[in-house]
Amino acid sequence: MKEKNLGVLASGRGSNLQSIMDSCAAGQIPARVAVVISDNSDAYALERARQAGISAIAVNMSDFPDKARYEQYIIKILQEHEVHLVCLAGYMRLVGSTLLDAFAGRIMNIHPALLPAFPGLHGQEQAWRYGVKYSGCTVHFVDGGMDTGPIILQAVVPVYDHDTSDTLAERILEQEHRIYPEAIRLYCEDKLIIDGRKVRIQT
Ligand code: GAR
Repeated sequence: MKEKNLGVLASGRGSNLQSIMDSCAAGQIPARVAVVISDNSDAYALERARQAGISAIAVNMSDFPDKARYEQYIIKILQEHEVHLVCLAGYMRLVGSTLLDAFAGRIMNIHPALLPAFPGLHGQEQAWRYGVKYSGCTVHFVDGGMDTGPIILQAVVPVYDHDTSDTLAERILEQEHRIYPEAIRLYCEDKLIIDGRKVRIQT
């Protein structure tokens, strides 16, 4: 199977990026991370990419007149690196129609809650405050909404009485690092079929 090129967009510490890079390096995913792009030049994700010898590029949205122009620039970088699949890994912006149209059905995101519950920012804390007994994480394809696209994989994490928002977030993160590489593997092995809202996994 031919290796696919991944482009990862990350705004922060990049632990999900790390799990994706490690899974690729270990041969668990028939892919390589070709480029990491961040909207935050201080993101540790960029440093992780550089340490792994991967092209790491900061793109500051305030350098562009509007979101469309900002995303056109990102598309140019992704195309130059011949990216097949875009992986959002803690990318804290809503993807606009420019990027969505260029990579239709080829953008994935990881969210730290069981969607459709608790979309948006701080999904772990939202769930903990609400008092749910189970939360978790979701990998989904990205559409024009906020964390609304077709769901690929989910993992359930129990919430304990002694949990704080932070301890819950830590256990959710462990599951994120497991299911995100798995979803990318399924994509790279052409096993995901999007059928309306449903993503079917071919065995
Ligand atoms: C992760 O928990 C990810 O699920 C979340 O940001 C964190 C990034 O951590 N993403 C969102 O909340 C998107 N709505 P990381 O930079 O260590 O991968």
